[in-house]
Amino acid sequence: MALKSARRGHIDPFIVMEVMRAANARAAEGADVLHLEVGQPASGAPAGVLAAAHAALDGDRLGYTEAFGLPALRTAIAGHYRHHYGLQVPESRIAVTTGSSAGFLLSFLAAFDVGDRVAMAAPSYPAYRNILSALGVEVVELPAGPDERYQPTVALLEAETGPLHGLILASPSNPAGTMIEADAFADLVAYCTARDIRLVSDEIYHGITFGGPREVPALALTQQAVVINSFSKYFSMTGWRLGWMVLPEDLLRPVECLSQNLFISPPALSQRAGIAAFACGDELDAHVRRYAENRAILLEALPRAGFTHIAPADGAFYIYFHLRPHDPDSLEFCRLLLEQTGVAATPGVDFDPARGHRTVRLSFAGATGEIRAAAARLCAWAGVAAQLAV
Ligand SMILES: Cc1ncc(COP(=O)(O)O)c(C=O)c1O
Repeated sequence: MALKSARRGHIDPFIVMEVMRAANARAAEGADVLHLEVGQPASGAPAGVLAAAHAALDGDRLGYTEAFGLPALRTAIAGHYRHHYGLQVPESRIAVTTGSSAGFLLSFLAAFDVGDRVAMAAPSYPAYRNILSALGVEVVELPAGPDERYQPTVALLEAETGPLHGLILASPSNPAGTMIEADAFADLVAYCTARDIRLVSDEIYHGITFGGPREVPALALTQQAVVINSFSKYFSMTGWRLGWMVLPEDLLRPVECLSQNLFISPPALSQRAGIAAFACGDELDAHVRRYAENRAILLEALPRAGFTHIAPADGAFYIYFHLRPHDPDSLEFCRLLLEQTGVAATPGVDFDPARGHRTVRLSFAGATGEIRAAAARLCAWAGVAAQLAV
Protein backbone atom coordinates (compact mmCIF):
# COMPACT_ATOMS: atom_id res chain seq x y z
CA MET A 1 0.00 0.00 0.00
CA ALA A 2 1.32 3.43 -0.91
CA LEU A 3 0.29 6.51 1.03
CA LYS A 4 -2.13 8.66 -0.88
CA SER A 5 -0.86 11.81 -2.57
CA ALA A 6 -2.92 13.98 -4.89
CA ARG A 7 -2.42 14.06 -8.63
CA ARG A 8 -3.19 17.78 -8.63
CA GLY A 9 0.05 18.46 -6.75
CA HIS A 10 2.06 17.12 -9.66
CA ILE A 11 2.44 20.30 -11.64
CA ASP A 12 5.46 21.62 -13.50
CA PRO A 13 8.07 23.52 -11.51
CA PHE A 14 8.36 27.28 -11.87
CA ILE A 15 11.72 26.95 -13.63
CA VAL A 16 12.86 30.49 -12.92
CA MET A 17 12.69 29.75 -9.20
CA GLU A 18 14.86 26.69 -9.77
CA VAL A 19 17.39 28.73 -11.76
CA MET A 20 17.40 31.26 -8.92
CA ARG A 21 18.12 28.48 -6.43
CA ALA A 22 21.01 27.20 -8.57
CA ALA A 23 22.34 30.75 -8.99
CA ASN A 24 22.09 31.41 -5.23
CA ALA A 25 23.92 28.13 -4.53
CA ARG A 26 26.75 29.20 -6.84
CA ALA A 27 26.89 32.64 -5.21
CA ALA A 28 27.02 31.00 -1.77
CA GLU A 29 30.10 29.08 -2.97
CA GLY A 30 31.74 32.40 -3.77
CA ALA A 31 30.99 32.61 -7.52
CA ASP A 32 30.31 36.02 -9.03
CA VAL A 33 26.69 35.60 -10.12
CA LEU A 34 24.65 38.17 -12.05
CA HIS A 35 20.91 37.65 -11.61
CA LEU A 36 19.16 38.18 -14.91
CA GLU A 37 16.80 35.28 -14.29
CA VAL A 38 14.25 36.69 -11.86
CA GLY A 39 11.94 39.59 -12.67
CA GLN A 40 12.60 41.57 -9.56
CA PRO A 41 13.73 45.19 -9.25
CA ALA A 42 17.24 45.70 -7.84
CA SER A 43 15.81 48.56 -5.82
CA GLY A 44 13.86 47.99 -2.63
CA ALA A 45 10.56 49.61 -1.71
CA PRO A 46 10.44 53.41 -2.10
CA ALA A 47 11.37 55.61 0.87
CA GLY A 48 7.77 56.66 1.55
CA VAL A 49 6.73 53.01 1.86
CA LEU A 50 9.60 52.26 4.26
CA ALA A 51 8.67 55.26 6.42
CA ALA A 52 5.03 54.13 6.53
CA ALA A 53 6.15 50.61 7.47
CA HIS A 54 8.30 51.94 10.32
CA ALA A 55 5.38 54.04 11.59
CA ALA A 56 3.06 51.02 11.40
CA LEU A 57 5.53 48.84 13.31
CA ASP A 58 5.78 51.46 16.02
CA GLY A 59 2.15 52.41 16.26
CA ASP A 60 -0.09 49.60 15.02
CA ARG A 61 -1.27 46.33 16.42
CA LEU A 62 -1.01 44.84 12.90
CA GLY A 63 -3.71 42.27 13.39
CA TYR A 64 -5.87 40.65 10.76
CA THR A 65 -7.60 43.03 8.39
CA GLU A 66 -10.83 42.46 6.49
CA ALA A 67 -10.36 39.76 3.87
CA PHE A 68 -10.52 42.33 1.05
CA GLY A 69 -7.96 44.54 2.81
CA LEU A 70 -7.78 47.80 4.70
CA PRO A 71 -10.42 50.31 3.60
CA ALA A 72 -7.72 53.01 3.40
CA LEU A 73 -5.68 50.91 0.97
CA ARG A 74 -8.72 50.14 -1.18
CA THR A 75 -9.42 53.89 -1.28
CA ALA A 76 -5.83 54.54 -2.33
CA ILE A 77 -6.09 51.94 -5.12
CA ALA A 78 -9.33 53.52 -6.38
CA GLY A 79 -7.47 56.84 -6.36
CA HIS A 80 -4.74 55.29 -8.51
CA TYR A 81 -7.32 54.34 -11.16
CA ARG A 82 -8.69 57.89 -11.08
CA HIS A 83 -5.32 59.61 -11.36
CA HIS A 84 -3.46 57.23 -13.64
CA TYR A 85 -6.23 56.19 -16.03
CA GLY A 86 -9.11 58.63 -15.39
CA LEU A 87 -11.31 55.66 -14.40
CA GLN A 88 -13.87 55.57 -11.58
CA VAL A 89 -13.59 52.19 -9.85
CA PRO A 90 -15.87 51.49 -6.87
CA GLU A 91 -13.83 50.57 -3.81
CA SER A 92 -16.29 47.74 -3.18
CA ARG A 93 -14.89 45.95 -6.27
CA ILE A 94 -11.27 46.14 -5.12
CA ALA A 95 -9.82 43.12 -3.32
CA VAL A 96 -6.34 43.41 -1.81
CA THR A 97 -4.41 40.14 -2.16
CA THR A 98 -1.21 38.48 -0.99
CA GLY A 99 0.64 39.38 -4.17
CA SER A 100 -0.99 38.93 -7.54
CA SER A 101 -0.16 35.22 -7.12
CA ALA A 102 -2.97 34.94 -4.55
CA GLY A 103 -5.18 36.89 -6.95
CA PHE A 104 -4.71 34.19 -9.58
CA LEU A 105 -5.59 31.40 -7.18
CA LEU A 106 -8.66 33.21 -5.84
CA SER A 107 -10.01 34.36 -9.18
CA PHE A 108 -9.33 31.07 -10.98
CA LEU A 109 -11.10 29.19 -8.17
CA ALA A 110 -14.06 31.56 -8.32
CA ALA A 111 -14.34 31.75 -12.10
CA PHE A 112 -13.50 28.30 -13.45
CA ASP A 113 -14.66 24.76 -12.73
CA VAL A 114 -12.70 21.55 -13.11
CA GLY A 115 -12.65 20.70 -16.82
CA ASP A 116 -13.18 24.29 -18.02
CA ARG A 117 -10.82 25.52 -20.72
CA VAL A 118 -8.77 28.70 -20.34
CA ALA A 119 -6.65 30.16 -23.14
CA MET A 120 -3.45 32.16 -22.97
CA ALA A 121 -0.55 32.96 -25.24
CA ALA A 122 2.35 30.56 -25.42
CA PRO A 123 4.72 32.02 -24.21
CA SER A 124 3.10 33.19 -20.96
CA TYR A 125 3.92 33.62 -17.29
CA PRO A 126 4.27 29.96 -16.14
CA ALA A 127 2.18 30.23 -12.97
CA TYR A 128 -1.03 30.84 -15.00
CA ARG A 129 -0.59 27.43 -16.58
CA ASN A 130 0.62 25.67 -13.45
CA ILE A 131 -2.04 27.06 -11.07
CA LEU A 132 -4.83 26.26 -13.55
CA SER A 133 -3.44 22.72 -13.97
CA ALA A 134 -3.43 22.22 -10.19
CA LEU A 135 -7.08 23.27 -10.17
CA GLY A 136 -8.02 20.77 -12.88
CA VAL A 137 -8.66 23.48 -15.46
CA GLU A 138 -7.52 22.71 -18.99
CA VAL A 139 -4.92 25.13 -20.33
CA VAL A 140 -5.30 26.07 -23.99
CA GLU A 141 -2.04 27.47 -25.29
CA LEU A 142 -2.30 29.82 -28.26
CA PRO A 143 0.96 29.54 -30.21
CA ALA A 144 1.82 33.23 -30.47
CA GLY A 145 5.05 33.99 -32.28
CA PRO A 146 6.67 37.08 -33.76
CA ASP A 147 3.79 37.56 -36.24
CA GLU A 148 1.37 37.92 -33.33
CA ARG A 149 3.91 39.85 -31.25
CA TYR A 150 3.73 36.89 -28.83
CA GLN A 151 0.18 37.90 -27.80
CA PRO A 152 -3.24 36.27 -28.23
CA THR A 153 -5.17 37.45 -31.30
CA VAL A 154 -8.74 36.96 -32.43
CA ALA A 155 -7.38 34.81 -35.29
CA LEU A 156 -5.64 32.49 -32.83
CA LEU A 157 -8.85 32.25 -30.77
CA GLU A 158 -10.89 31.52 -33.90
CA ALA A 159 -8.48 28.73 -34.81
CA GLU A 160 -9.28 27.05 -31.49
CA THR A 161 -11.93 24.39 -32.00
CA GLY A 162 -13.05 23.51 -28.45
CA PRO A 163 -15.14 25.70 -26.11
CA LEU A 164 -13.34 28.37 -24.12
CA HIS A 165 -14.32 29.65 -20.67
CA GLY A 166 -11.52 32.08 -20.04
CA LEU A 167 -8.74 34.08 -21.66
CA ILE A 168 -5.71 35.48 -19.86
CA LEU A 169 -4.06 38.60 -21.26
CA ALA A 170 -0.94 40.34 -20.03
CA SER A 171 0.12 43.58 -21.71
CA PRO A 172 3.02 44.24 -21.25
CA SER A 173 3.65 40.53 -21.16
CA ASN A 174 6.08 38.32 -19.38
CA PRO A 175 8.31 36.94 -20.97
CA ALA A 176 8.11 38.80 -24.29
CA GLY A 177 7.57 42.33 -22.97
CA THR A 178 5.21 42.99 -25.89
CA MET A 179 2.02 45.00 -25.60
CA ILE A 180 -1.36 44.65 -27.26
CA GLU A 181 -2.37 47.71 -29.32
CA ALA A 182 -5.58 49.45 -28.22
CA ASP A 183 -7.65 48.27 -31.24
CA ALA A 184 -6.50 44.67 -30.89
CA PHE A 185 -7.26 44.78 -27.16
CA ALA A 186 -10.78 46.06 -27.90
CA ASP A 187 -11.26 43.27 -30.48
CA LEU A 188 -10.23 40.64 -27.94
CA VAL A 189 -12.62 42.08 -25.33
CA ALA A 190 -15.47 42.12 -27.88
CA TYR A 191 -14.69 38.51 -28.89
CA CYS A 192 -14.82 37.40 -25.24
CA THR A 193 -17.94 39.41 -24.41
CA ALA A 194 -19.84 37.93 -27.35
CA ARG A 195 -18.98 34.37 -26.28
CA ASP A 196 -19.15 34.61 -22.47
CA ILE A 197 -15.42 34.02 -22.19
CA ARG A 198 -14.15 35.39 -18.87
CA LEU A 199 -11.26 37.77 -19.43
CA VAL A 200 -8.46 37.89 -16.89
CA SER A 201 -6.23 40.91 -17.47
CA ASP A 202 -2.87 40.75 -15.72
CA GLU A 203 -1.80 44.41 -15.50
CA ILE A 204 1.18 43.86 -13.21
CA TYR A 205 3.61 45.55 -15.65
CA HIS A 206 1.57 48.69 -16.14
CA GLY A 207 3.77 51.70 -15.45
CA ILE A 208 6.85 50.07 -17.01
CA THR A 209 6.75 50.97 -20.70
CA PHE A 210 9.24 52.41 -23.15
CA GLY A 211 7.35 54.70 -25.50
CA GLY A 212 5.68 52.06 -27.70
CA PRO A 213 1.97 51.17 -27.61
CA ARG A 214 -0.22 52.68 -24.89
CA GLU A 215 -1.26 50.70 -21.82
CA VAL A 216 -4.88 49.63 -22.07
CA PRO A 217 -6.64 49.08 -18.74
CA ALA A 218 -9.25 46.35 -19.30
CA LEU A 219 -11.64 48.38 -17.10
CA ALA A 220 -11.82 51.04 -19.81
CA LEU A 221 -13.49 48.44 -22.06
CA THR A 222 -15.42 46.05 -19.84
CA GLN A 223 -16.64 45.66 -16.27
CA GLN A 224 -16.79 41.85 -16.62
CA ALA A 225 -13.03 41.21 -16.59
CA VAL A 226 -10.98 40.14 -13.61
CA VAL A 227 -8.17 42.69 -13.34
CA ILE A 228 -5.04 41.59 -11.53
CA ASN A 229 -2.32 43.92 -10.32
CA SER A 230 0.46 44.02 -7.78
CA PHE A 231 2.90 46.13 -5.82
CA SER A 232 5.75 43.86 -6.95
CA LYS A 233 6.92 45.41 -10.22
CA TYR A 234 6.36 49.15 -10.81
CA PHE A 235 6.12 49.71 -7.05
CA SER A 236 9.30 47.67 -6.47
CA MET A 237 7.91 45.66 -3.54
CA THR A 238 8.28 41.97 -4.50
CA GLY A 239 8.90 40.58 -1.01
CA TRP A 240 6.04 42.48 0.60
CA ARG A 241 3.61 40.09 -1.05
CA LEU A 242 0.94 42.62 -1.85
CA GLY A 243 -1.36 42.86 -4.83
CA TRP A 244 -4.94 43.63 -5.74
CA MET A 245 -7.79 42.66 -8.02
CA VAL A 246 -10.69 44.59 -9.44
CA LEU A 247 -13.51 42.09 -9.65
CA PRO A 248 -16.76 41.96 -11.60
CA GLU A 249 -19.84 42.08 -9.34
CA ASP A 250 -20.72 38.40 -9.78
CA LEU A 251 -17.35 37.20 -8.45
CA LEU A 252 -17.18 39.50 -5.42
CA ARG A 253 -18.88 37.31 -2.87
CA PRO A 254 -17.27 34.02 -4.00
CA VAL A 255 -13.80 35.60 -3.93
CA GLU A 256 -14.48 37.18 -0.55
CA CYS A 257 -15.46 33.81 0.97
CA LEU A 258 -12.48 32.06 -0.65
CA SER A 259 -10.19 34.80 0.58
CA GLN A 260 -11.51 34.62 4.17
CA ASN A 261 -10.94 30.90 4.25
CA LEU A 262 -7.68 30.58 2.32
CA PHE A 263 -5.75 33.61 3.58
CA ILE A 264 -7.88 35.39 6.25
CA SER A 265 -6.26 38.64 5.12
CA PRO A 266 -3.23 39.94 3.22
CA PRO A 267 -0.27 40.95 5.44
CA ALA A 268 -1.25 43.98 7.54
CA LEU A 269 2.22 45.53 7.63
CA SER A 270 2.50 45.46 3.84
CA GLN A 271 -0.97 46.94 3.51
CA ARG A 272 -0.19 49.83 5.85
CA ALA A 273 3.01 50.52 3.95
CA GLY A 274 1.40 50.03 0.54
CA ILE A 275 -0.94 52.98 1.10
CA ALA A 276 2.11 55.24 0.82
CA ALA A 277 3.28 53.69 -2.48
CA PHE A 278 0.96 55.80 -4.63
CA ALA A 279 2.71 58.97 -3.48
CA CYS A 280 6.17 57.69 -4.50
CA GLY A 281 5.89 58.29 -8.26
CA ASP A 282 9.10 60.33 -8.61
CA GLU A 283 11.28 57.61 -7.09
CA LEU A 284 9.49 54.84 -8.99
CA ASP A 285 9.66 56.65 -12.33
CA ALA A 286 13.42 56.96 -11.83
CA HIS A 287 13.51 53.13 -11.68
CA VAL A 288 11.68 52.99 -15.00
CA ARG A 289 14.34 55.27 -16.50
CA ARG A 290 16.98 52.83 -15.20
CA TYR A 291 15.11 49.92 -16.83
CA ALA A 292 15.11 51.88 -20.10
CA GLU A 293 18.88 52.30 -19.87
CA ASN A 294 19.36 48.60 -19.06
CA ARG A 295 17.08 47.61 -21.93
CA ALA A 296 19.15 49.70 -24.34
CA ILE A 297 22.37 47.99 -23.16
CA LEU A 298 20.98 44.52 -23.87
CA LEU A 299 19.33 45.50 -27.14
CA GLU A 300 22.70 46.75 -28.31
CA ALA A 301 24.71 43.78 -26.99
CA LEU A 302 22.57 40.83 -28.05
CA PRO A 303 22.77 41.41 -31.84
CA ARG A 304 26.52 41.93 -31.49
CA ALA A 305 26.68 38.48 -29.93
CA GLY A 306 24.69 37.07 -32.87
CA PHE A 307 21.26 37.00 -31.21
CA THR A 308 19.30 39.01 -33.74
CA HIS A 309 15.83 37.53 -33.31
CA ILE A 310 14.45 39.49 -30.34
CA ALA A 311 10.83 40.16 -29.29
CA PRO A 312 9.89 43.86 -29.31
CA ALA A 313 10.44 44.86 -25.67
CA ASP A 314 7.61 47.41 -25.38
CA GLY A 315 7.30 47.15 -21.62
CA ALA A 316 7.99 45.11 -18.46
CA PHE A 317 11.68 44.40 -17.87
CA TYR A 318 12.45 41.43 -20.08
CA ILE A 319 14.23 40.62 -23.31
CA TYR A 320 13.00 37.42 -24.94
CA PHE A 321 15.33 36.28 -27.67
CA HIS A 322 15.77 33.30 -29.96
CA LEU A 323 18.91 31.22 -29.83
CA ARG A 324 21.19 30.90 -32.85
CA PRO A 325 20.86 27.71 -34.92
CA HIS A 326 24.07 26.19 -33.53
CA ASP A 327 23.22 26.90 -29.87
CA PRO A 328 22.13 24.03 -27.65
CA ASP A 329 18.62 23.69 -26.27
CA SER A 330 17.62 26.61 -23.98
CA LEU A 331 17.86 24.55 -20.76
CA GLU A 332 21.41 23.53 -21.62
CA PHE A 333 22.24 27.02 -22.91
CA CYS A 334 21.17 28.61 -19.59
CA ARG A 335 22.95 25.92 -17.58
CA LEU A 336 26.21 26.53 -19.46
CA LEU A 337 25.82 30.29 -19.33
CA LEU A 338 25.47 30.21 -15.54
CA GLU A 339 28.27 27.68 -15.10
CA GLN A 340 30.77 29.38 -17.40
CA THR A 341 29.96 33.09 -16.97
CA GLY A 342 27.91 33.44 -13.77
CA VAL A 343 25.04 35.04 -15.74
CA ALA A 344 21.72 33.53 -14.66
CA ALA A 345 19.03 33.50 -17.37
CA THR A 346 15.69 31.72 -17.77
CA PRO A 347 15.12 29.10 -20.48
CA GLY A 348 12.09 29.71 -22.69
CA VAL A 349 10.56 26.32 -21.78
CA ASP A 350 9.36 27.91 -18.53
CA PHE A 351 7.00 30.08 -20.62
CA ASP A 352 6.35 27.86 -23.61
CA PRO A 353 6.94 24.16 -22.96
CA ALA A 354 6.41 23.24 -26.62
CA ARG A 355 8.54 25.86 -28.39
CA GLY A 356 10.64 27.46 -25.66
CA HIS A 357 13.61 25.19 -26.29
CA ARG A 358 14.94 27.83 -28.67
CA THR A 359 14.28 30.95 -26.59
CA VAL A 360 15.75 32.58 -23.49
CA ARG A 361 14.52 35.39 -21.23
CA LEU A 362 16.76 37.97 -19.62
CA SER A 363 15.45 40.28 -16.91
CA PHE A 364 16.87 43.80 -16.95
CA ALA A 365 15.36 44.86 -13.61
CA GLY A 366 18.80 44.76 -11.98
CA ALA A 367 21.36 47.49 -11.36
CA THR A 368 22.77 49.05 -14.53
CA GLY A 369 26.34 48.05 -13.63
CA GLU A 370 25.24 44.42 -13.38
CA ILE A 371 23.39 44.52 -16.68
CA ARG A 372 26.43 46.05 -18.35
CA ALA A 373 28.69 43.37 -16.88
CA ALA A 374 26.26 40.62 -17.91
CA ALA A 375 26.12 41.99 -21.47
CA ALA A 376 29.92 42.00 -21.66
CA ARG A 377 30.18 38.42 -20.35
CA LEU A 378 27.45 37.21 -22.69
CA CYS A 379 29.13 38.79 -25.72
CA ALA A 380 32.54 37.33 -24.87
CA TRP A 381 31.06 33.91 -24.14
CA ALA A 382 28.81 33.83 -27.20
CA GLY A 383 31.67 34.96 -29.38
CA VAL A 384 33.73 31.99 -28.25
CA ALA A 385 30.80 29.65 -28.70
CA ALA A 386 30.22 30.96 -32.23
CA GLN A 387 33.86 30.36 -33.15
CA LEU A 388 33.70 26.83 -31.83
CA ALA A 389 30.60 26.12 -33.87
CA VAL A 390 32.13 26.95 -37.30
C1 LIG B 1 3.07 38.45 -15.44
C2 LIG B 1 3.23 38.24 -13.96
N1 LIG B 1 2.13 38.14 -13.22
C3 LIG B 1 2.23 37.92 -11.89
C4 LIG B 1 3.45 37.78 -11.26
C5 LIG B 1 3.48 37.46 -9.78
O1 LIG B 1 3.74 38.58 -9.02
P1 LIG B 1 3.42 38.77 -7.48
O2 LIG B 1 2.79 37.54 -6.94
O3 LIG B 1 4.72 39.10 -6.85
O4 LIG B 1 2.45 39.93 -7.44
C6 LIG B 1 4.62 37.89 -12.00
C7 LIG B 1 5.94 37.71 -11.36
O5 LIG B 1 6.96 37.70 -11.98
C8 LIG B 1 4.50 38.13 -13.39
O6 LIG B 1 5.58 38.24 -14.17
